[in-house]
Amino acid sequence: MDTQSPRAVLISGCSSGIGHALARDLGRRGFRVLATARQAADVEKLSAEGLSCRRLDLDDSGSIAAGAQWALEQSAGNFYALINNGAYGQPGAVEDLSRDALREQFETNVFGTQELTNLLLPELRRRRRGRIVQVSSVLGFVCLPWRGAYNASKYALEALSDTMRMELRGSGVFVSLVEPGPISTRFGINSLRAFDKHLRPQDSVHRDVYESLRANLKNMQRRRFSLPPESVVAPVVHALSATAPRIRYRVTVPTHVFAALKRILPAAALDRMLSNSGGAPVR
Ligand SMILES: NC(=O)c1ccc[n+]([C@@H]2O[C@H](COP(=O)([O-])OP(=O)(O)OC[C@H]3O[C@@H](n4cnc5c(N)ncnc54)[C@H](OP(=O)(O)O)[C@@H]3O)[C@@H](O)[C@H]2O)c1
Repeated sequence: MDTQSPRAVLISGCSSGIGHALARDLGRRGFRVLATARQAADVEKLSAEGLSCRRLDLDDSGSIAAGAQWALEQSAGNFYALINNGAYGQPGAVEDLSRDALREQFETNVFGTQELTNLLLPELRRRRRGRIVQVSSVLGFVCLPWRGAYNASKYALEALSDTMRMELRGSGVFVSLVEPGPISTRFGINSLRAFDKHLRPQDSVHRDVYESLRANLKNMQRRRFSLPPESVVAPVVHALSATAPRIRYRVTVPTHVFAALKRILPAAALDRMLSNSGGAPVR
C-alpha cells in the first residue's frame, strides 16, 4: 500500500458548475482528483484542462462499474473519497409527472449514485478511512411546488446518507451532506431539457405556472442570494479534511433561513411561505 501518494477523490458530474469547481480546486489542495463526466466531449474538455478524467454516466450500470474500477486503479492504493455531485432537476407539478419522468429522476440522482457508492465503499472500509460527500440541496429538507421529483430524489439521498452514516459507525468512513441553495450554474438550463422531455404544458391545469417556471429556469443563474459554484468548495474541503467532519453543511443564505424556519414554524405556515417561492424557486 502506498500511503505516500495523494489521497484520491472521485467526483461525479464535473462537466460544469459545482463539480467542475471542485475538480479544479481540490487538486491544488493536495488531493488526486479523479474527475468524471457523462459525455465524451466533456471528458475531452476536462482532460485538456489537465485533469484525470473519464466518462461516468449515472444512468448506466456498466459505465458506473467501469468508472469505479478506473478510480481504484488510478488511486495508487490511496482511494479516499467519493463526491456524489452529478444530478439534474426534473421540473413539473407532481400530478403531471409520468412514471418514466420520476424513474429517470431517481435513476440519476438516487439509484446510480448509490450504485457508485456501493461499489467504492468496500475499498474505503478495507482501508478503514474515507469520506463520502453527498451534494444534496436545500430541497433535501424543504419542498417547493413544481419541484416534486427533484425534491423526492434529494430527500431520498438524505435518507440514504443518514442511514449509511449510522451503518458506517466505527468503520472510519464518514458521510457528509452538503446542502446548497441557489448556485449560479447550468442547473436551470439543464432542467429545461427535462422539462421539454416530460411535460406537456398545454395539457396541464398548471400551464400558466409553467410559462413563468420555464422563464425562471432560464434565468436561474441570476437569482437573488445566488452564490458562485466555488462557494461549495470550502464546505467540501472541510468534509474531506476535518478530523470530525460535519453531518450537514448548509451553503447560501436561503438554506440557513429555511433550515431555521423549518425548526420554528408550524408546517402550515412553512407551506404558505414555500408556496410563494415556487414560481421563482429557491433551490
Ligand atoms: N445550482 C444550484 O442551485 C444547486 C442547488 C442545490 C443543489 N445543487 C446540486 O449540486 C449538484 C451539481 O449541480 P450544478 O448546480 O453544478 O448543476 P450543473 O451545472 O447542471 O451540473 C450537474 C452535473 O451533473 C451531471 N449529470 C447529470 N446527469 C448525469 C448522469 N446521468 N450521469 C453523470 N452525471 C450527470 C451533469 O452532466 P451533463 O453536463 O452531461 O448534463 C453536470 O456535470 C447537483 O447534485 C445539484 O442537485 C445545485
